[in-house]
Amino acid sequence: MLLRVTDIHKGYAKSKGFFGKTITPVLKGVSLEVDYGECVGLIGESGSGKSTLGKIILGVEKPDAGTVVFGGNEGKKELSVVFQDYTSSANPRLRVKHVLSEPLKERAKKQRAYLGHLLREVGLDESFLERFPHQLSGGQLQRVCIARALATKPKFILLDEAVSSLDVSVQLQILKLLKLLKEKYRLSYLFITHDLMSVTYLCDRVIFFKEGNIVETVSHVSALHGVKDPYSRSLLNAVKAMEIPDMCRAKVCQ
Ligand SMILES: Nc1ncnc2c1ncn2[C@@H]1O[C@H](COP(=O)(O)OP(=O)(O)O)[C@@H](O)[C@H]1O
Ligand SMILES: [Mg+2]
Repeated sequence: MLLRVTDIHKGYAKSKGFFGKTITPVLKGVSLEVDYGECVGLIGESGSGKSTLGKIILGVEKPDAGTVVFGGNEGKKELSVVFQDYTSSANPRLRVKHVLSEPLKERAKKQRAYLGHLLREVGLDESFLERFPHQLSGGQLQRVCIARALATKPKFILLDEAVSSLDVSVQLQILKLLKLLKEKYRLSYLFITHDLMSVTYLCDRVIFFKEGNIVETVSHVSALHGVKDPYSRSLLNAVKAMEIPDMCRAKVCQ
């Protein structure tokens, strides 16, 4: 197993009122696994604790209880992340070449040829190296963030709402790119989102998340129509009512 998350609990202190701090539980015993080459979708509404779980997996937040274990020899070094807010995840003062080389340590890897190669992997080219983030479209900038995530040759990429801020047509292009890269490099993704459509496009397995708990897991997207939990069903019905690409619709509506 590439990633094993076991019984994670996390709460945040709410306010220091008259009676002191109260702790609001955000994650209430979450366990999940991601295998090599697998894309697991984690879907849940806003505020349900998805990003908190992501931060704990990344190691930037500490859980109150529970463990995160990476397989493989190099452990966390093989981990990258792409966030929703591409405008703030790329420093506006840095040119694309510097954004891309940020996570790289070795000088050799910072060379133009490697950076150009990274850009071509995400459907851009070397001419973008000298540009600043504000000189790119949302989709182009998110491609740069994906290229940056690839720079360290990770096995696992955490995608936290990575397409959620983009227009629907651009979303689909980025999803296609993520799918292509996943196959080419045999990457594993944990794809965190509040949007079921993108999950059906990209993921092998789907976890439904509500108020800090996993309420249901679907072992294959083709079985999505069979979900039983009322919350999962409500998400599914919302998707059925949307304008979605036929290939996604086929998996949801049967
Ligand atoms: N650093 C923090 N301090 C206090 N509360 C937080 C912090 N981070 C997240 N929260 C709270 O935890 C809950 C879950 O947030 P989050 O994990 O961002 O949810 P999601 O990504 O599913 O929208 C929210 O109520 C949020 O306000
Ligand atoms: Mg979030």
